[in-house]
Amino acid sequence: MNEWFYTGLFIFTGNQIISISMQNRIITNITSWAKEKLEFVDAGHDWWHIKRVLTNAKKLHQIEGGNWYVIELAVLLHDVPDPKFFDEEKMLVEVEQKMKSEGIDTDTSEHVMQIIKHLSFSKQWTGKAFDSLEFRIVQDADRLDAIGAIGIARAFSYGGHKGRDFYDPDVSSSVYSNADDYRKSDAPTINHFYEKLLLLKDMMKTETAKTMAIQRHEYMEGFLKQFYSEVEK
Ligand code: ADP
Ligand code: NI
Repeated sequence: MNEWFYTGLFIFTGNQIISISMQNRIITNITSWAKEKLEFVDAGHDWWHIKRVLTNAKKLHQIEGGNWYVIELAVLLHDVPDPKFFDEEKMLVEVEQKMKSEGIDTDTSEHVMQIIKHLSFSKQWTGKAFDSLEFRIVQDADRLDAIGAIGIARAFSYGGHKGRDFYDPDVSSSVYSNADDYRKSDAPTINHFYEKLLLLKDMMKTETAKTMAIQRHEYMEGFLKQFYSEVEK
């Protein structure tokens, strides 16, 4: 029997009517594709990062609303074109083609592409803005995973991946004004807290994420206090 009749459950998504079972199959396929692509990145950007961002996004979606299909697809795919690990332009094309080959409607895939292209912290300097409730939720969910205990672990994982020092009192933290300088910086990992991580609390866009960020932010402040009390003895 045709699956559309078999389930009897349909959802309007973007410009397409789709059965729930078809949507689930698309999510399963996109999940295993993204998992494969992220196999060789550092521990801070691996599949577990995607799982945590999904959990954060779900919490935000439950309170803030938005289209979960778009949010879920954007979370699953958001780090596949990460320029820290991949050729961004090439991977953006691959992501778009993958969504097309899965039969995802154009409204949904265009929205997902916009979210992915504008998500990164470094995109704040490109001047091209994009906004939607789904964008805010995905960006806040990703940024929540950059702070708190996990944020600390991820920063030192990335620093280790790049062979950076934990700290160096002779290298002071910078305030960046363009993406190139931010990306090229090879400063010690502790500087990243001042250059990005401690700024994220006030950059959250949804009220729910603003509240969730407070405790994680305070935890990082406590960590830094302890860190300096140990290194400055
Ligand atoms: P986005 O995910 O918004 O593009 P980034 O690529 O700047 O942001 O960073 C993603 C995560 O990678 C950070 O939250 C951090 O865990 C790690 N990271 C990036 N740059 C650095 C750095 N210079 N030092 C330590 N960790 C970093
Ligand atoms: Ni991410």
